[in-house]
Amino acid sequence: MPHPSPSRLVVLVSGSGTNLQALLDACADPAYGAEVVAVGADRDGIEGLARAERAGIPHFVHRVKDFDQRSEWDHALAETVAEHRPDLVISAGFMKLLGPDFLARFGGRVLNTHPALSPSFPGMHGPAEALAHGVKVTGCTLFVVDEGVDTGPIVAQAAVEVLDDDDVETLHERIKVSERQLLVDTIGRMAREGFTIDNRKVRIG
Ligand code: GRF
Repeated sequence: MPHPSPSRLVVLVSGSGTNLQALLDACADPAYGAEVVAVGADRDGIEGLARAERAGIPHFVHRVKDFDQRSEWDHALAETVAEHRPDLVISAGFMKLLGPDFLARFGGRVLNTHPALSPSFPGMHGPAEALAHGVKVTGCTLFVVDEGVDTGPIVAQAAVEVLDDDDVETLHERIKVSERQLLVDTIGRMAREGFTIDNRKVRIG
């Protein structure tokens, strides 16, 4: 049977882009069922963009500070992403909240990865807050983006043990190992099998 065409992924990054790299590596296998068609960022000079460059993937930057209004930035981001006709948009360490324009356009097919077990510790400091709270298990969550902060329907989660001698950096690095695996495994399944969302319940296949 011929392969259906691979799902088109646009990946948004703000930093080192190790989650992006994991997706790029997975997409090298045609059986994975997806391809990264573009990479977008909210800042210049980051390793995530260098990874896109090295992989020969089109990339673009929209900085909030270059726009008078945040809504204009959101609109420009949505327009540029749309040019790449994504099936899924993956926010992989993208440190900006996507706005109403963006979600109106791509809502229900924007995925985000968060370094905590939702609904615990939403926001920018998941690993630090888990550590400060003294939890023994934290982890990572892949979810469908809605208008809240890390509140959207959960697609997949993985648990990571907190060790007695962890600091924020060691804990976050260990979470990121799980996060990359979860992202690659789950996005591949979503691309190959499709998914539905019903009353917050996400089902793949
Ligand atoms: C990930 O832990 C992501 O969940 C968080 O920032 C990290 C990004 O890592 N928001 P990278 O840029 O993919 O290496």
